[in-house]
Amino acid sequence: MAKISASVYTSHVPAIGAAIDLKKTGEAYWQPLFAGYEYSKEWMKENTPDVIFLVYNDHATAFSLDMIPTFAIGTAAEFIPADEGYGPRPVPKVIGHPELASHIAQSVIQDDFDLTIVNKMEVDHGLTVPLSLMFGEPEAWPCKVIPFAVNVVQYPVPSGRRCFQLGQAIRKAVACFDDDIKVQIWGTGGMSHQLQGARAGLLNREWDNAFLDRLIADPAGLSEVPHIEYVREAGSEGIELVMWLIARGAMSDIQGGPAPTVKHRFYHIPASNTAVGHLILENN
Ligand code: DHB
Ligand code: FE
Repeated sequence: MAKISASVYTSHVPAIGAAIDLKKTGEAYWQPLFAGYEYSKEWMKENTPDVIFLVYNDHATAFSLDMIPTFAIGTAAEFIPADEGYGPRPVPKVIGHPELASHIAQSVIQDDFDLTIVNKMEVDHGLTVPLSLMFGEPEAWPCKVIPFAVNVVQYPVPSGRRCFQLGQAIRKAVACFDDDIKVQIWGTGGMSHQLQGARAGLLNREWDNAFLDRLIADPAGLSEVPHIEYVREAGSEGIELVMWLIARGAMSDIQGGPAPTVKHRFYHIPASNTAVGHLILENN
């Protein structure tokens, strides 16, 4: 049977992707940020999964205001990095896992979460920047990836509670997939940031770190935090953080297992005009 081995959480700031692609990671501005992912890259080499279930949001790249799925699962065999206006990032194409994705869709939809099934989709920085942060610049990504896009761009967006419950349904689905594979679930986006308006550039170190504390130790309580608190404390785009609750909900302790081990925790401001948070939790 398939097993969720670990969850990984990271911001997906596009400027980080540009810094990697333009070979600027050693510059004084960027070095402290990338130093925070050195351990993660080593850990990934030792713990490469067969598949990553990668929760991210599309930034009006694959979807536009014409069509806004709340939760969309990528069931294709491959996903091409998108041109986001300055050309596609020079990263490998993303190889999917149609069998596991279809199985999860079947199980989760029958569990009352109405996913949109996407058989053809391009993927943007929300998905490719986390891959670059965790794997560096390989010729090909070392494992398969199931993209799972959440609408956190256009209101109404899903609640933290709904995301947390969805994670639990995903864990149940993975656990009954009849193949002995190792799956990681990633939650991306955040932390505090606001990209427009009078509060553009908002950073809230204290709130972000309290979010990380609660994500580790009190995820059920954290899932009850209302949207208005994310927006007020973490900025309008800080709402991306609800996606981390999908990954957290898929960990074993939520359904009676032992608490996960915190393998790594990192926080840095600023990157572009955004806070960057990162966490690796291993199931026990
Ligand atoms: C920016 C965009 C994002 O999608 C994000 O999550 C953080 C920052 C930006 O444009 O700076
Ligand atoms: Fe984003």
